[in-house]
Amino acid sequence: MVLCMVLSWIFIHRWSQRNKKGPKTWPLVGAAIEQFTNYDRMHDWLVKYLSESNSVVVPMPFTTYTYIADPANVEHVLKTNFANYPKGEVYRSYMEVLLGDGIFNVDGELWRKQRKTASFEFASKNLRDFSTVVFRDYSLKLHSILSRASFQGQQVDMQELLMRMTLDSICKVGFGVEIGTLAPNLPDNHFAKAFDTANIIVTLRFIDPLWRIKRYLNVGSEALLDKSIKTIDDFTYSVIRRRKAEIKETQQSSENNKMKHDLLSRFIELGKDSESDLTDKSLRDVVLNFVIAGRDTTATTLSWAIYMVMTHPHVAEKLYSELKTFEEDQAREEKVSLLPYDTENLELFNRRVAQFAGLLSYDSLGKLYYLHAVITETLRLYPAVPQDPKGILEDDVLPDGTKVKAGGMVTYVPYSMGRMEYNWGPDAASFKPERWLKEGFFQNASPFKFTAFQAGPRICLGKDSAYLQMKMALAILCRFYTFTLVPGHPVQYRMMTILSMAHGLKLTIARR
Ligand code: HEM
Repeated sequence: MVLCMVLSWIFIHRWSQRNKKGPKTWPLVGAAIEQFTNYDRMHDWLVKYLSESNSVVVPMPFTTYTYIADPANVEHVLKTNFANYPKGEVYRSYMEVLLGDGIFNVDGELWRKQRKTASFEFASKNLRDFSTVVFRDYSLKLHSILSRASFQGQQVDMQELLMRMTLDSICKVGFGVEIGTLAPNLPDNHFAKAFDTANIIVTLRFIDPLWRIKRYLNVGSEALLDKSIKTIDDFTYSVIRRRKAEIKETQQSSENNKMKHDLLSRFIELGKDSESDLTDKSLRDVVLNFVIAGRDTTATTLSWAIYMVMTHPHVAEKLYSELKTFEEDQAREEKVSLLPYDTENLELFNRRVAQFAGLLSYDSLGKLYYLHAVITETLRLYPAVPQDPKGILEDDVLPDGTKVKAGGMVTYVPYSMGRMEYNWGPDAASFKPERWLKEGFFQNASPFKFTAFQAGPRICLGKDSAYLQMKMALAILCRFYTFTLVPGHPVQYRMMTILSMAHGLKLTIARR
C-alpha cells in the first residue's frame, strides 16, 4: 500500500514536469542524480539545456542552482542588482584557507577597499613596464625549451610548460622572486608543488561533502592541504620579511632608483602611506590572490589558443602572415636590420627569435589585431572560468521572469554563453577570429555577452595584463614554430573551476 502511494507520488511528480525545460527532477534529490551522472561533461550538459531556454533551474537536495546565459539576466546579476549577488559565505568558507581575506574571497567594504588600491596599482605604468620585461624574458625561456625539443625531436606537454611559465612570471611580478620552474631541466619546486596541491584540494571541497569531517580529523586530502598551506605560507612570509628589510635599506641609503616594482613591494609602500599599515597576513593574502587569479587562467587560455591555431590551418597562416608583416614594419620603424637566420642553425635561429622578442612592447603588441582576435575567440569558446556561481541574499526576479530564492545560487555560464546561437548567431559554435574584426580593427563585444572576464564592478582586474602576456608568448610561438598534436592524444577539459585540459596538450614542434 505504502509502496503504491510512493510510486503514484513519483509518477505524478514526473508527469507534472512533462513540459518543463531543463533537467527533470526526482522527489527529495531534485536533479542531483542527473547532474552527478553528467559531472565529467557538465559544461556541455548545460549547453544543451541553455540552448533550449535562457535560464535553467536545477533543484538540488538542500538548495537550487539557477544557470543563466542571456546577457540581460547576466547584466542584472553582475551589475544592476550587484549587491544582491555576493560571493557568499559558502564560497568564502571553502576558500578561506588559501585565499584568506584577499580580493577574491571577500564582499562588501573589505572588497571595495582592496579593489580601489589594486585598480590603482594595475593602472600604473611602472607595473606595466616591469611586467612587459618579465613576460618577454619568460616567453624566451619557453622558446629555449621548445627550440631544444624541436632539434631533438622530443614531444612536449605544452600545457605543463605554460603553467610553469605563468607561475614563474606571476611570482616575479607578484613577489619579485625568481622561482625557476621553467629552467632547462624543468625542476620540481616546493612552493609550486604545494601551490598546485592546495589549489586542487580546495576546489575538490565543492564536490566532497565529507571535507569538513576530514578537516576536523586532519586526515586524507585535508591533512595534505594543511601541509601545503604551511609550505606556501613559509615561502610567502619569508619573501615578505626580505622585501620589507630591502625597502628599509633602500630608503636609508636614499637609493630610490633601486626601488622594486613587484606588487608586494608596491603594497608594502602603499601600506606605509595610509593610516593602516598592512599586516604580513594581509600582504600574504593580497599577493597570493593575484598569483591564483593570474596563473592557471592565463596558461589554460594559451593552451586552448595553441590548440585552436593548430587545428585551424587557415587561422595559423593568417596569424603567421600578420606576425611576419609586423616584424618587417616594426624593424623598419625602429631602424633595426633583421638578422639572417637558418632554422637548422640553433645559434642563428635563437638570435633571430630574441631579436623579434625585442620588437614586442606594450605599444607594438597593440598593433596585432588578428592575434588579439584569436585570443578573444579562444576565450569565447573555451573561457578559462567556464561557470561562475554567485550567492543570493534576497528573493528576486530576473529580467526573463525566472524567480530566484534567497540562499540559492545563480551561475552565469561563459562556456554556454559563447555557444548560444541567440548570443552569437548560427555560426556560434565555430572558431572564427574574424567575427571580432571590422575593417581589420578589433571590435569589442558587450562584457555581459562576452563574459570570460566577468563584467560589472568585479570585472577581472588583470585582463590587460593577461592579454599582454598571452600576446607576447603567442607572437613568439606562432611566428617561429608550428605545432602538431601527438597522434591519438585526447584533448578534453577537466571538470574543475578552471577549464584546463584533462590530459595536457602533447605536441611535436617544428621551427619556421
Ligand atoms: C585569461 C586570463 C584571465 C581570465 C579569463 C580571467 C577571468 C577572471 C574572472 C572570470 C574573474 C571573476 C571571478 C570571480 O567571480 O571572482 C576574474 C577576477 C579577477 N581577476 Fe582575472 N582572469 C584572467 C587573468 C588575470 C590575471 C593575469 C590577473 C592578475 C595578475 C587577474 C586578476 C584578477 C583579480 C584580482 C580578480 C578579482 C576581481 C574582484 O573580485 O574585484 N586575472 N578574472
